[in-house]
Amino acid sequence: MTFSSSSPAGIGIVGCGNISERYVKGISRFPLLKTLGCADMYQEAADKLSASTAISAYPSVDALLDDPGVDVVVNITSPVAHAEVSFAALKAGKHVYVEKPMGATVAEGRRMIEAAVAAGRVLGSAPDTFLGSSAQTARAAVDKGVIGEPIGAVGFVTHSKAETWHPDPTFLFKPGGGPVLDLGPYYVTALVNLLGPVASVAGFSRVGAPVRTVSAPGRRVDKITVEVPTHAVASLEFASGALATMMFSFDVWDHHLPYLEIYGQEGALGLFDPNKYDGPVVTRGHHDSEWATLPPVFPPSAEPGSPEQFMRGPGVVDLVRALDGAPHRASAALALHVLEVLQAVETASQTRQSVGIESRVERPATVPADPKW
Ligand SMILES: NC(=O)c1ccc[n+]([C@@H]2O[C@H](COP(=O)([O-])OP(=O)(O)OC[C@H]3O[C@@H](n4cnc5c(N)ncnc54)[C@H](O)[C@@H]3O)[C@@H](O)[C@H]2O)c1
Repeated sequence: MTFSSSSPAGIGIVGCGNISERYVKGISRFPLLKTLGCADMYQEAADKLSASTAISAYPSVDALLDDPGVDVVVNITSPVAHAEVSFAALKAGKHVYVEKPMGATVAEGRRMIEAAVAAGRVLGSAPDTFLGSSAQTARAAVDKGVIGEPIGAVGFVTHSKAETWHPDPTFLFKPGGGPVLDLGPYYVTALVNLLGPVASVAGFSRVGAPVRTVSAPGRRVDKITVEVPTHAVASLEFASGALATMMFSFDVWDHHLPYLEIYGQEGALGLFDPNKYDGPVVTRGHHDSEWATLPPVFPPSAEPGSPEQFMRGPGVVDLVRALDGAPHRASAALALHVLEVLQAVETASQTRQSVGIESRVERPATVPADPKW
């Protein structure tokens, strides 16, 4: 099926919460996509998104799935609902792009991929930030050998302080949430994009505080009982032999830590926040006197720090291009591998043993210098 700016793919948004407006506005930047409407298990949530973005609200999720104009369902429900909503959408004949983590467990993720294969539809998944100028600039540097063969890496996932801005961050402290599954996907996907698949994982985790206090303006909850670890450390051994030291934490509120750094035989590479599409990438050779900022391989999608920079959508375009035979970068296979790695952090912590990773993925294809999304 060929989509174009004169015949765009019809997009249906399921899940009209905190991130949904950034999807609707972000998707509106791409001529290949046209949002037809939104739906939520709570009609008032769909009506609210409809009012703030001028897209239609369907009367139910089933009504959205019954619309033959919807080619792709963008599933931005809570993590525990990702599988159920994706199954329904695939059964209705839709392609699906699902937010991260793709499922609350690896078993769910595997079943989602099986359901997509059985339905003959394409399943894609966030995160897609590695398609942005920042991660692609880092990838080009590694591929060109700027730091030589990568030996090690560090990644520090620190608290997004969701209690101070999300009106209901409950899901972040329940199964499917926590710093490992909520923010970990950005970091581990960025590392797999640079270093290839992970072979094994060791780790430890704990709960920081059993109850979290919400202070966000307009909050719908005041207190949350924590059900998942909120501070974890892990070692990742990549199939290439590279070793990464990771921390994932909702208990580190303030710090001087980098986001991600890669250490090679000839130099080091410093990445920007992998939760963002654009931002500086720096490098320093062993014999350089200072760090240098690399020119981006293509222009940033928006000014770093501007609200536009947080808008989602490249992964949905990537999926629609893949329907026409282009490489599928933000694929379900990549998301499942990342989910398996992240789930292994908790398994390793519980069993006090390192965990072998079964799935293997190739590094995703690079994004062309002129992406023409
Ligand atoms: N909020 C962010 O900044 C952010 C950023 C990036 C990614 N995400 C991801 O996006 C997803 C949604 O996050 P959010 O912050 O918008 O959450 P949210 O809780 O604010 O919104 C989720 C919405 O999904 C709806 N929903 C839940 N189960 C449903 C079901 N079975 N059928 C239909 N609707 C259902 C809820 O009613 C709610 O309106 C999560 O996977 C999250 O990890 C969020």
